[in-house]
Amino acid sequence: MNIRENISLAGMTTLGVGGDARYLAEAATDDDVVAAAAWARERGLPLFVLGGGSNLLVADEGFDGLVVQVGLRGFDVVEDGDEAIVKVAAGEDWEHCMQRTIELNCAGMECLAGIPGTVGGTPVQNVGAYGQEVATSIACVRAYDLVERKFEELTPQECGFAYRRSRFNTADRGRFVVTRVDYRLKRGGAPTVRYAELKEAILKGRDEAELAAVRLAEVAETVRELRRAKGMLLVEGDADCRSAGSFFKNPVVSEERARQIAEVSGKLPPSFPAGRGQVKIPAAWLIEQAGFHKGFQMGAAGISSRHTLALTNRGGATANEILALAERIAAGVDARFGIELELEPVLVGF
Ligand code: EPU
Repeated sequence: MNIRENISLAGMTTLGVGGDARYLAEAATDDDVVAAAAWARERGLPLFVLGGGSNLLVADEGFDGLVVQVGLRGFDVVEDGDEAIVKVAAGEDWEHCMQRTIELNCAGMECLAGIPGTVGGTPVQNVGAYGQEVATSIACVRAYDLVERKFEELTPQECGFAYRRSRFNTADRGRFVVTRVDYRLKRGGAPTVRYAELKEAILKGRDEAELAAVRLAEVAETVRELRRAKGMLLVEGDADCRSAGSFFKNPVVSEERARQIAEVSGKLPPSFPAGRGQVKIPAAWLIEQAGFHKGFQMGAAGISSRHTLALTNRGGATANEILALAERIAAGVDARFGIELELEPVLVGF
């Protein structure tokens, strides 16, 4: 296993900011993962697992430890009645993996088209968009446990999934290196067309009864178009996509709280049911109601010109500039609505 020193991380992230990794290793096999873990442990260094870098904010000071770039490859399909278990190595590109499941005519990932990053990152933040999240299709997560020093196969229950959450980014943050994810998909299944915006785009000229017959590929392509319009698809030369996707989570609040927000702003906030008398309010809407607009800029950090929830690097931004903008926005929303926005990307080296 080759370990390199003082390697810039900015270019390995979609946001394109941040300093160097003190050490960087690429793990192409399970043995490499074990060796990298031992190497860091012997030197008392922290270890950070880098996937696609699409949901990261790296500190300007960089990361004073070992960054392990997970490069494990592999894509296997096991048929199981009318389902298919797709076993994918953590280093595979998510979009490529998702596209292969569409070509296999397997339903369950079609709404997650156009998301940058690798497979290994999907269970960590329970990636979700347009009415689907990976938690509903994950059958098993294989990971190396840095504490017990062994590989484990975790059931979805053991992963503790919730909205943008799992044990991997909460209680057991930093404890596991995900090496493979198994997804259980429906062979020949109908697409999930539930998210209002997606449904509207798909329905055009069709009636509801025809939805089940819509092809998975069409749903995936429509999702990509929606993402492209919001600057949430990686497109070369598009300044709006030099971001980490959503920079804040959508707050989940009680219905009572949602009514208070309506009183303060003088209009009903858009809301999505979140179970147990709770609703999810779009953070983008709260941010706009707090007086921030698309394209708002502070130094080289700015709000995307196409989506209020994405903070972008307008060219040469530092991590501190991005964070200062995020703090200003969060303070504005807190002052107006008494809601503390939670950051969505992973912070490294802070
Ligand atoms: N909105 C605004 N201004 C905007 C954009 C949106 O006010 O500039 C309001 C509108 O009311 C809109 C609502 O927010 O109806 C929802 O917007 P959108 O459908 O774009 O979704 P989102 O809530 O902003 C979430 C995810 C996205 C995911 C989309 C689609 C989070 C934090 N973000 O965003 O995920 O693609 O839904 O399902 O849950 C990501 O995690 O990085 C990400 C991009």
